[in-house]
Amino acid sequence: MKERKNVYLLPAGDTTLAWYSKAVVEMKKRPTTDPTSWNYQAAMHGFNASLSFWRGAAPLPSQTEQNQYWNQCQHGSWFFLPWHRMYLAYFEQIVAATIVKLGGPADWALPYWNYSDTSNPNARTIPPAFTNPNNATNGLWITGRVSDTIPPRYVTLGALNTIPYTGDGRTSPLGFGGPETGFSHSGGTHGQLESLPHDMVHVAIGGAMGDPRTAALDPIFWLHHANIDRLWQVWLNMAGGRINPNKSSWLDYNFYFHNAAGQSAQFTSKQVEDTRQVLSGYTYQGVPVGGPTLRTANALQNADFSTPLEITAATNQGVTLGSAKTVAHLGLNASPQKAVNLAATTNSAVSKPALTILHFENVTGKGVPPIYDVYLNEPQNGGDKESYYAGSVSFFGVEEASTPSVHQSGSGQHYALDISDLVNKLRSSPNWKDQQLDVSIEPSRAVDADASVNIGRISVYSE
Ligand code: C2O
Repeated sequence: MKERKNVYLLPAGDTTLAWYSKAVVEMKKRPTTDPTSWNYQAAMHGFNASLSFWRGAAPLPSQTEQNQYWNQCQHGSWFFLPWHRMYLAYFEQIVAATIVKLGGPADWALPYWNYSDTSNPNARTIPPAFTNPNNATNGLWITGRVSDTIPPRYVTLGALNTIPYTGDGRTSPLGFGGPETGFSHSGGTHGQLESLPHDMVHVAIGGAMGDPRTAALDPIFWLHHANIDRLWQVWLNMAGGRINPNKSSWLDYNFYFHNAAGQSAQFTSKQVEDTRQVLSGYTYQGVPVGGPTLRTANALQNADFSTPLEITAATNQGVTLGSAKTVAHLGLNASPQKAVNLAATTNSAVSKPALTILHFENVTGKGVPPIYDVYLNEPQNGGDKESYYAGSVSFFGVEEASTPSVHQSGSGQHYALDISDLVNKLRSSPNWKDQQLDVSIEPSRAVDADASVNIGRISVYSE
């Protein structure tokens, strides 16, 4: 059994990262056609020959092989968590075998990067071994990262409060792990953990990490995903109805990888639910495993969360985001007969606050746009803006999701923010109007010249 350790708690003199660096350098020497090479492993997540990070990668495996093994990452899907767990497990096996070949220890395990640890003042900064030295002699460095430090609001863990695993915020409340889908290279509403912190960390670091088609070329990718994988277990441990899906369409769905011998291998979600049973088994430092209940027979989950939501407001045209603040006015036009529900949702006579979900639908775009911060009914004359903060959205993978391919339709991405608490609060303010909600969307930094975002529709769904 391996233990994946907190990278910031590795003791002085520990060699985990030094061996990781050596293994990366070694894996980069292998040709892209070798499934255990650095390029092949990263291309399994995403690949696009036209992106500069892929320059020099040819010769490539056959198109048939690429279709089966490359561009497989699952996003906007309930497979987000299990697919990335499987991917990490085989990657860790390949790195560990490489280290043994290089004369290193037999028990190498991938460390995790806990950027949300508020007890560690350095937590939000990429561990120094990845940035220093900042040249190709360092296997852990990569050119083009936009930032080494993630701002605090992009690493918060509100996702852990989400009880259902599955959900899309329309036919059901939002889910921790994402909506029920088939194979989904992009597409459905990003799950709560996927949206924040997962997508945010990608886009905040930027460079290769900012795009799924290059992200796994950055060695920090793997420590980021070890942390996301750890948070899945942390969430399960919180119990209270937090359980994995129990449908065969999730449990038995099969994905393809390669093992350390370079042979084809597969996993189903069911086979990776208990980390102690994944390949040689692993646990996370500081996180107990082994409660009896990966999936207790718990009828509560379905009973409690089955009410579909109704659309209560929407923009009647697309919204293009730029380097300035964009304000969308959500009015009656799209759905006049139901707009009144926006008030009903926040009726204080209802004992449990009703859900109100803000959706960004069919988001298409180019390049790596910045993270955008979202405010509701923000006063024109400044004032305390933070009390109108609804959350943030990053559009990790937007260009790929806008491009039709063998793996997806190209209809764009979907994001959703739970704005129930904020709407409840705003309703008691003198500026509140039942017929109108102003959604301000502000970039966290200037937009690159080659980046753009268009939101097909902004909508509000309410209970
Ligand atoms: Cu498949 Cu962090 O991305």
